[in-house]
Amino acid sequence: MAPGNPYSLNQSDMPIQTASQIPLPEVDLNTYKPKDPVPVSIVKSEIATASASPNFVRHVEFDVSGTDLENRVIPGQSLGILAEGTDENGRPHKVRLYSTCSPTGGEDGNGKIYATTVKRVIDEHWETQELFLGVCSNYLCDRKAGDIIRMTGPSGRRFLLPETYEDYNYIFLATGTGIAPFRGMAIDLMRSGMKNDVVLAFGCPYRTDLLYKNLFDDLDQKHKNFHYLKFVSREDPRTDGTKPYVQYSLIDRADLMNPILEKDNTLIYVCGLKGMETGIYKILGQLGLFDYLRIKEKLNGVDPLDWTTDQVKSYIKPGERMFLEVY
Ligand SMILES: Cc1cc2nc3c(=O)[nH]c(=O)nc-3n(C[C@H](O)[C@H](O)[C@H](O)COP(=O)(O)OP(=O)(O)OC[C@H]3O[C@@H](n4cnc5c(N)ncnc54)[C@H](O)[C@@H]3O)c2cc1C
Ligand SMILES: NC(=O)c1ccc[n+]([C@@H]2O[C@H](COP(=O)([O-])OP(=O)(O)OC[C@H]3O[C@@H](n4cnc5c(N)ncnc54)[C@H](OP(=O)(O)O)[C@@H]3O)[C@@H](O)[C@H]2O)c1
Repeated sequence: MAPGNPYSLNQSDMPIQTASQIPLPEVDLNTYKPKDPVPVSIVKSEIATASASPNFVRHVEFDVSGTDLENRVIPGQSLGILAEGTDENGRPHKVRLYSTCSPTGGEDGNGKIYATTVKRVIDEHWETQELFLGVCSNYLCDRKAGDIIRMTGPSGRRFLLPETYEDYNYIFLATGTGIAPFRGMAIDLMRSGMKNDVVLAFGCPYRTDLLYKNLFDDLDQKHKNFHYLKFVSREDPRTDGTKPYVQYSLIDRADLMNPILEKDNTLIYVCGLKGMETGIYKILGQLGLFDYLRIKEKLNGVDPLDWTTDQVKSYIKPGERMFLEVY
């Protein structure tokens, strides 16, 4: 790869949204809308964390057989859930999206059972300090096998593996439940027998929060080209005392990452916490890996070491080889 250098580039302000050159599969979209959701039944709900944790994250499976979602949802897409009841204004709750964590063909291989990874939103209200419970995440986590829920979707047509997925290497950077799409993608890629490299770097607060740990440990052990890296922010400080956020995989595991990042056919996928992309852009800039970024002219001449967080937020977007889904 010949990394571009924004010091010398005389780029005009580039449009932020351009169609990707990487061919993505055609997918079904919004077959079921919030005004016309489809009833589906819960078939399973179990803890998705490595062990008991202060963060409650569940793996929830739904049976979509007989609906137009059957065999029509692929990793990277989301499904909508409508919680029962009304909001504080008496209006029905709005739809919330949850990424499917299932591979193509669902949990059963026949496209009838899909799953998601949902975290209960539980906090103190930031104004009243009263207990704050997220509406839909708790609704979904409270459902039991046999319960019927209202579903919309599928949604999302950008955060997908390419049609010719075996032609690429992948670096997946996930925080928390942002792991969901990568579970399905990793299973698809490893089942296909593809030979290129797949790195999954996962960030979570505590060791107990390593989601689907057994699955990823197993893929790591069975496939020489699958690499599972764990970044436990509140337990394993880096040598300089900073928190080991996932973006530091690009530096702290340079032995593994550099040769992959430098290849022209490597794609980076980022999913999870809103804002996590900023640190990733900064490190890619500092490493001179400008091919993954779309940098506005305003940063020409500025050394990436001097990029401020505000500048990165305003002037850098993902390039053609980076896929981003953060909420
Ligand atoms: C494309 C997409 C995919 C997603 N996939 C997943 C997924 O796979 N798994 C997953 O768990 N989530 C996922 N989410 C997030 C999910 O859609 C919901 O936003 C999340 O579950 C919270 O919904 P809720 O109804 O429980 O919370 P809400 O009742 O909607 O409450 C959350 C809102 O309340 C506010 N809030 C938060 N904390 C506090 C506080 N302490 N005090 C006061 N207000 C507060 C915030 O404004 C926040 O937006 C995804 C989102 C998108 C857009
Ligand atoms: N398709 C999608 O778009 C999609 C799918 C699933 C989930 N999500 C979103 O993903 C988020 C996941 O949240 P969660 O509560 O599940 O996560 P979580 O368990 O709290 O884990 C987040 C981890 O990221 C670390 N972190 C904090 N700030 C960071 C930063 N700037 N850069 C890198 N890492 C950072 C946290 O460290 P510390 O807390 O120790 O600082 C923690 O280790 C939710 O907001 C959800 O809406 C989106």
